[in-house]
Amino acid sequence: MFLPILCIFSLILSSHAAVQDFCVGDLAAPEGPAGYSCKKPAKVTVDDFVFSGLGMAGNTSNLIKAAVTPAFAPQFPGLNGLGLSIARLDLAVGGVVPMHTHPGGSEVLLVTQGAICAGFISSANTVYFKTLKKGDIMIFPQGLLHFQVNGAGIPSTAFVSFSSPQPGLQILDYALFANDLPTELVVQTTFLDAAVVKKLKAVLGGTN
Ligand SMILES: *[C@@H]1O[C@H](CO)[C@@H](O)[C@H](O)[C@H]1NC(C)=O
Repeated sequence: MFLPILCIFSLILSSHAAVQDFCVGDLAAPEGPAGYSCKKPAKVTVDDFVFSGLGMAGNTSNLIKAAVTPAFAPQFPGLNGLGLSIARLDLAVGGVVPMHTHPGGSEVLLVTQGAICAGFISSANTVYFKTLKKGDIMIFPQGLLHFQVNGAGIPSTAFVSFSSPQPGLQILDYALFANDLPTELVVQTTFLDAAVVKKLKAVLGGTN
């Protein structure tokens, strides 16, 4: 009487044991489309699930007066395989995150200090933008061009979370002006004046 019940119970237990709770990324192993290979569970510790480093502002002494501090899979391998990640965004006064996309995931942004003017452009080319205050959140759907600009007279901060451990980042100005695509082709494909293209290539480190 009890034996069959015990057998069924142990069957359920063993099938549950096969569920993979996590897959802490082994950064030394090759990375595939689904992420990193898993670190051996016996070698996993609590520190694999804790990331310290978003408590401090990033260095905004740069061209865009902005800093993104990522806690993506390469920095925080515990996220590997879990479909999410987080980062900190600091915008000095006048700071801007130029028009960009994350090919791998949607984004939710929470303003925690100051104000940020943020927006995205749909594939129908409709623009959605607003100045967000502390406590406001905004979402940016996967793959769409979007931007953030300091909207206050003080340094502003936001935390951004993504629906991918590796959302990726492509900045439009860098794609157009920070590589060796010939000026003539940039002019032809953007309808910009050659002088403007050459000026931006010089600023962003592009050639040709
Ligand atoms: C911030 O970055 C600038 C430019 O790279 C550098 O000169 C400066 O030392 C950095 N500041 C800190 C606190 O790391």
